[in-house]
Amino acid sequence: MNYKNPDKYGYYGEFGGAFIPEMLYPNVEELQKKYLEIIEYEKFQQEYQYLLKNYVGRSTPLYYAENLSDKYHTQIYLKREDLNHTGAHKINNALGQVLLAKYLGKRRIIAETGAGQHGVATATACALLGMKCIVYMGEIDIQRQAPNVARMKMLGAEVVPATSGSKTLKDAVNEALRDWINNPVTTHYAIGSVVGPHPFPDLVARFQSIISKEIKEQLLEQTGKENPDYVIACVGGGSNAAGAFYHFADEENVKLLAAEAGGLGIGSGMSAATTFLGSIGVLHGSKSLVMQTEDGQVIEPHSISAGLDYPGIGPFHANLFKEKRAEFFSINDDEALKSAFELTKLEGIIPALESAHALAVLDQKKFNEKDIVVICLSGRGDKDMETYLKHLNY
Ligand SMILES: Cc1ncc(COP(=O)(O)O)c(C=O)c1O
Repeated sequence: MNYKNPDKYGYYGEFGGAFIPEMLYPNVEELQKKYLEIIEYEKFQQEYQYLLKNYVGRSTPLYYAENLSDKYHTQIYLKREDLNHTGAHKINNALGQVLLAKYLGKRRIIAETGAGQHGVATATACALLGMKCIVYMGEIDIQRQAPNVARMKMLGAEVVPATSGSKTLKDAVNEALRDWINNPVTTHYAIGSVVGPHPFPDLVARFQSIISKEIKEQLLEQTGKENPDYVIACVGGGSNAAGAFYHFADEENVKLLAAEAGGLGIGSGMSAATTFLGSIGVLHGSKSLVMQTEDGQVIEPHSISAGLDYPGIGPFHANLFKEKRAEFFSINDDEALKSAFELTKLEGIIPALESAHALAVLDQKKFNEKDIVVICLSGRGDKDMETYLKHLNY
């Protein structure tokens, strides 16, 4: 499978497609027809690349984490997406999509958010580019990611609580899709991960692919070879992982490791580890792996990290799993917390709770001393301070 080019219907193997209500068809079809032409347009690329460099602060460093490497007896590099403007990888995609919306002639942007990082990134891009911004966010997430709610409001976005279901990310996506159906002409739905109907998984993967493009260039400069032995990333919907894997997916020698949120454990009924618990189904417009009951009702997920608290994964990752191209790990809440405190103490970097799941793979997989292991540090931990303070004994 060529992960850079799903087929024209947006399929990665058997996963993908666009399963949408008829009312959404005009919006999705417009995007399908125009997205590649617009994002490959020279003027678009000039504007986008200029902003990534001078506004977002790219390229982000690839940092050799010596203390962490000593502890795990291997060579660990951290891709510092936490150092992007607004604190996570989400801005790479948000800026791209808001710019795309401008080229499509839309003035109103809607988005969903879990951890609030995509909401903040979208609100930021909208402030910059003069767009109206509405962010849907689960009521539970509004409570646990309060600093990001305040930031979105200050940036001029309207934050609308999603009050159905588990009141988390899945429910926020449902509300955003409902809004889009009601406002088809004026509005672009800036989805925050590699989920949703075609072309969103491909569109978002392309905007995030800058992560692996830079890793290759930076590794070559620092080690003399552009491919690591392993790339590790956490998977909620899967956008930072898709970006970190993108330019390595067809390089057989690079092993891809994906960390999902195990919550309280995969057998606990309180988990979000989709590849362990899911089956083939349709969620939010694409065919993928979904946590669902036998009769197709979505199972409410649980994770301590709002950004991974989602009962599905994008089709890109469902296919990586099916083809055994990537190895998936289930990381429990307590294991992620332990890794977050460990990184903070060893390297002086407070990671986002989501990114801490990727770090925790270091405890589950044995690496050789000479292995080069790149971990995508998708975001910083400022938004998670309240949770961290409750667990200071780790
Ligand atoms: C810092 C951070 N990492 C990871 C994620 C998970 O999203 P994705 O799987 O799309 O990268 C989020 C989502 O909010 C996030 O804020």
